[in-house]
Amino acid sequence: MVKKIALFNHKGGVSKTTTTFNLGWMLAVLGKRVILVDTDPQCNLTGMVLGFSTKKQLEEVYSKNQHIKAGLAPAFESQPKLIDAVECIPIERQEGLFLLPGHVGLAEYEVTLGIAQELSGSIQTLKNIPGSISYLLEKTAQKFAADYILIDMSPSLSSINQNLLMTSNYFIIPTIPDFFSIMAIDSLATILPKWYQWAKKASELPILKEAVYPFPKVTPLFLGTIIQNYPVRNQKPSVAFKKWMDDIKGAIQDRLFPELSRESMVFPPKVYSAQGIENDFCLIEMSAFNSLVAMSQKCQTPVFDLNDTQMQRTGDHLKNTLESQEKFKESFSKLADKVINLT
Ligand SMILES: Nc1ncnc2c1ncn2[C@@H]1O[C@H](COP(=O)(O)OP(=O)(O)O)[C@@H](O)[C@H]1O
Ligand SMILES: [Mg+2]
Repeated sequence: MVKKIALFNHKGGVSKTTTTFNLGWMLAVLGKRVILVDTDPQCNLTGMVLGFSTKKQLEEVYSKNQHIKAGLAPAFESQPKLIDAVECIPIERQEGLFLLPGHVGLAEYEVTLGIAQELSGSIQTLKNIPGSISYLLEKTAQKFAADYILIDMSPSLSSINQNLLMTSNYFIIPTIPDFFSIMAIDSLATILPKWYQWAKKASELPILKEAVYPFPKVTPLFLGTIIQNYPVRNQKPSVAFKKWMDDIKGAIQDRLFPELSRESMVFPPKVYSAQGIENDFCLIEMSAFNSLVAMSQKCQTPVFDLNDTQMQRTGDHLKNTLESQEKFKESFSKLADKVINLT
């Protein structure tokens, strides 16, 4: 069975997309078959993987219906056919890695899904909607014999995100060290238990059980957080950022984790500690990639896999860049190991 991992934080700019790309690639390097799913209507992940420079190229992929919205259309547009697997795009430079492209029009399904999720017990014609996203991802995973699906989500508390997160097996919360991340963690401590309460009820509703795409019974488990994109001085996070990092860890430990724990959305403590994860549930700290991030985007290659030519550096510059690249490779490799062992 495929393992679905959602990368979620309703705050934007916390490295959800960047982590999906780099972590997914690393999982594939380690021999896993991985589908990266872009569910953000901004389609940043799709752009990052395919490196489209023109709208025309994107339209070509869209014309072949190789995207999430087309995959869901049979349910959302009441088409007289069953949802089928999306023909994902193989990422040629890495064996076992695939992209299920996003679509700006996915946002058009938001209202229908919202109504279906609110009134799912009472409206017959909407009963196939809440389970359809999970069904599409499972079908697609089967077709590609995927071990993992990594879901890159939009920065919002939308119905689509509620559905995606509550039908995922696991979730990671990426953060950056700033005050807004702490605000986000505090609101997630309230919202995630509510979403789970809703999902439990939905999975037990007879009308959703007997739907063509039944709403699955899943308890999404918290893998941990990632703190990312901070400046480093003398090999350590600079002081001002260190404070926010500590505050994020405190917010997770004192406020988010206990709420998730009450809903059984966490592993037993010894499962985390066996992976070297402390009580702050931080999977990895990843400093700013600096210039590597620009080259990574330009070359559609993860930061740890850029070659000397792609890095456009010589002499000492190259030496320094290679050193920091090695550090990021180690970090992503550790992160991927933890993910594999926890799941
Ligand atoms: N570790 C990092 N170092 C430097 N820049 C980063 C790092 N992680 C993310 N970024 C940059 O930060 C911005 C936001 O990241 P992104 O992955 O798009 O976040 P999200 O998907 O959560 O909105 C992007 O410009 C990305 O290139
Ligand atoms: Mg994003």
